[in-house]
Amino acid sequence: MKQVNGSYQFDRLISNIQTKEIQRLNYQSQMLQNLEQKIWQNAGLTPTMRVLDLGCGTGKISLAIAQYLTHGSIIGVDRSPTMISEAEARTRDSLTFQLGNSDNLDFPDSSFDFVYARLLFQHLSDPQTTLTEIKRVLKPGGIACLVDVDDDWVMFHPAIASMVTFQEAVVKAQLEQGGDPHVGRKLGSYLADVGFGRVKTAIEIVSSDLLQNNVEGSVGFAAFLDLLSFGAAFHDRHPDLITLGAKAKSDARKLLDLPYVWGAFGLFVVTGLKL
Ligand SMILES: C[S@@+](CC[C@H](N)C(=O)[O-])C[C@H]1O[C@@H](n2cnc3c(N)ncnc32)[C@H](O)[C@@H]1O
Repeated sequence: MKQVNGSYQFDRLISNIQTKEIQRLNYQSQMLQNLEQKIWQNAGLTPTMRVLDLGCGTGKISLAIAQYLTHGSIIGVDRSPTMISEAEARTRDSLTFQLGNSDNLDFPDSSFDFVYARLLFQHLSDPQTTLTEIKRVLKPGGIACLVDVDDDWVMFHPAIASMVTFQEAVVKAQLEQGGDPHVGRKLGSYLADVGFGRVKTAIEIVSSDLLQNNVEGSVGFAAFLDLLSFGAAFHDRHPDLITLGAKAKSDARKLLDLPYVWGAFGLFVVTGLKL
């Protein structure tokens, strides 16, 4: 049966998995920082805005946005007390954090110019309620920017049989936990359904080549693998995924001996305007 609390219940994970997941999210934010900045700017973020980072996790992205907001401010909200205490170390005048659930936001109507939700919607069992809340807390003319993945937009070459087995198991587990591994393609219609205007869906490709920059060899592919979660987020109710994920990652790393190996995923960037 589909779970109502969604597929990322961080505080239910055992502590060594929590620690690794925090490290992975921080690493991912760091590796994709240039891309992130391009995403906010294309979405219409300007340095004077009042911003909400919903499902802020470790707060590393919230901090990067705060540094961009020379005359604005940002608040990060997450439902996990562990994530919020991790994020609070980054607090400063223009950046604060608050515990909260996306489907019942503790802010008055029309509080924000820009709401950012990165890798949140794939975990929500009731995305429409969160979108209604986002729309409520945005000022008229404010922007919603949702960034997420879609499991059909993950690929490797050469193919890795254990990776396919693992990916199929993750899709099944995430659906059972109330999440949606194919949310990326749906976000635009979700925004339109709750009344957002000027809705646009773009896809940024994150590839091993993108990460490789100017480094020779397979460094980009190793870095690409380190971005991926390999089942950690679902460990509380699907511990088997860690074993399948470890096998897939270890088989993928064996490809590092080849002259060229490639991996990529699509990051869906979906924006809409509160009319
Ligand atoms: C995959 S992490 C992404 C964190 C961060 N946005 C990033 O990109 O690094 C998803 C985050 O969403 C939070 N989350 C999940 N469901 C939530 C909800 N209903 N309300 C608020 N936060 C939620 C989780 O606690 C977790 O920190």
